[in-house]
Amino acid sequence: MTIAQNQAAVGGLSAAKTAAERFGILERPDLTFTPEIARETAHLYDRVKQFVPAFEWPVYAPYVHAINRLKKERGAVILAHNYQTPDIFHCVADIVGDSLQLARDATKVDAGIIIQCGVHFMAETSKLLNPEKTVLIPDGKAGCSLSESITGADVRLLKERYPGVPVVTYVNTSADVKAETDICCTSSNVLAVIESLESDTVLCIPDEYLAMNVAKQTKKKILTWKGHCEVHERFTAAELLAYKEADPSIEIIGHPECHPDVIAVCDFAGSTSGMINYVKDKRPARVLLVTECSMASNIQAEVKGVDFIKPCNLCPHMKRITLPKILDSLLFMTEEVLVDPAIAGRARLAVERMVNLKQ
Ligand code: 13P
Ligand code: SF4
Repeated sequence: MTIAQNQAAVGGLSAAKTAAERFGILERPDLTFTPEIARETAHLYDRVKQFVPAFEWPVYAPYVHAINRLKKERGAVILAHNYQTPDIFHCVADIVGDSLQLARDATKVDAGIIIQCGVHFMAETSKLLNPEKTVLIPDGKAGCSLSESITGADVRLLKERYPGVPVVTYVNTSADVKAETDICCTSSNVLAVIESLESDTVLCIPDEYLAMNVAKQTKKKILTWKGHCEVHERFTAAELLAYKEADPSIEIIGHPECHPDVIAVCDFAGSTSGMINYVKDKRPARVLLVTECSMASNIQAEVKGVDFIKPCNLCPHMKRITLPKILDSLLFMTEEVLVDPAIAGRARLAVERMVNLKQ
């Protein structure tokens, strides 16, 4: 089921009031860059000045100021993935992290409204874990090539073909795929999830490369699917080796959504937060991040003395989330993320099993 199909199905089911009807609409604030706004956002500009030129800050600052004010007024919390742009990540987010951290933190959030700055499956995961809360995504079209690669019907066919084989599904999937799943995983816990299962054979779907990478670390037989991340599949081992040849001191760290040939030339592979922690702990003199490039900027803003090489592959879906759209979410309570009650219970169970897994 695509995002549009899912939202249409849920919309058809729901006769309940919309979030705008429940919370009301606010008036658009004046977005003039005043001396007061300059003063109150100066500490935030300091965090992103490497990435936002001084002459552009007067455009960003009124949005940052308004979002931070309205967030309190609405009682909302902003969860942002590590791939969000530095203005979002460093200036308006309350909680940042990789997919697993965001899923875990979503269960601890006090606020009644969650604004998910990331892609749709992340917002849907937050909603599954917080059925009573209002979850908004600033752009509901923020999809994911992995999530689009498989449907619940596909998983049902796989289960018919491999009866009794447990299904481990990457969180980068829609709720209707999760509903057919035994347990979810992310790139940071995929090995632990697979090892937690008794079966010698496991379906690890839909990311073929993640499955091939984890297959090298376990004795279990891993069956998979042909889904790929459109950002990480573009990296090649040849281009990384060319960097290494030009400067053998470079440390290369990559995301397990890359092809195994790419991971083979990496010094470290891990989830987005795994990569951030590696750089923070090891402080390599020069590092090449084989992942979405906003993340390198986000660490660069915090870590001094590390030279970052950023082959700039952007995720077009993550980049749909912008400050003006976050402001609109807060003003108009859009776009609300709902999950079809017919699948929500089963999908929630698969996510909860992952979140509760002891590691
Ligand atoms: P992480 O779980 O590592 O944050 O990955 C999410 C993602 O979409 C990477 O492309
Ligand atoms: Fe999906 Fe890849 Fe974008 Fe992550 S980077 S959201 S896996 S398309």
